[in-house]
Amino acid sequence: MDVKEAVLERRSIRAFNPEPVPREVFEKIMEDALQAPSWGNTQPWRLTLIGGGTLEKIKKEYVRMSGEKTPPNPDFPMPAEFNVIQKTRYQGLGKALFRALGITREDKKKRNAYYEEMMQCFGAPHVIYLHLDTGFNPYALMDGGIILQTIALLALEQGLGTCFLAQSVRYPGVVRKHAGIPDDQMLVMGMAIGTPVEDHPANVFRSERGKPEEFLRYVDVG
Ligand SMILES: Cc1cc2nc3c(=O)[nH]c(=O)nc-3n(C[C@H](O)[C@H](O)[C@H](O)COP(=O)(O)O)c2cc1C
Repeated sequence: MDVKEAVLERRSIRAFNPEPVPREVFEKIMEDALQAPSWGNTQPWRLTLIGGGTLEKIKKEYVRMSGEKTPPNPDFPMPAEFNVIQKTRYQGLGKALFRALGITREDKKKRNAYYEEMMQCFGAPHVIYLHLDTGFNPYALMDGGIILQTIALLALEQGLGTCFLAQSVRYPGVVRKHAGIPDDQMLVMGMAIGTPVEDHPANVFRSERGKPEEFLRYVDVG
């Protein structure tokens, strides 16, 4: 798989097969992913890859807490506002995804079931959590994003799908407790990993993108 293929092939996977991925596959991915760049080669990322009964316990607690409407308490506050363009894209994603899944606005039962699935990381057998030492430099967040995307692209080559999941860090205390992540680590992001359910509407779905001119200006080029 070449780079362009991997970039175009990657998409958020929202339906996973339950079979665990052999540890050797992750070891290979991680060895390569660690070639990712970072500020001054500081490599500030801390990563915890979870599966098995431990992940099941986390998922179970997430379902219970979100069902009880326990307010999320992420280490990094979720964005409260977006500008108009970003809000339009965000809402557009939700509408398009629900349309693809055949979930109507009125169908509260199906919507709740979908959110419950999200609390269970869409059935993924593994989640890799990115955490940072307290007192981290803000650029470490950038470095963390780079390594997660590098892992996501390398995972594709192994036939694995991924989904970045901000919702997987809404109750960081639960993840810390079950995964043995020390209290002085800030939980940034979780990314679900596993084999995708082929042909599931959630995985066939493709989100839209703006045109290059919406984001990019050329100055004195060509
Ligand atoms: C930082 C970050 C957090 C995300 N959190 C969630 C999430 O909690 N739930 C979810 O379903 N998708 C989540 N996503 C996936 C985005 O919705 C997805 O990347 C975006 O719609 C583009 O679609 P694509 O990944 O299929 O190309 C997240 C993505 C990023 C980068």
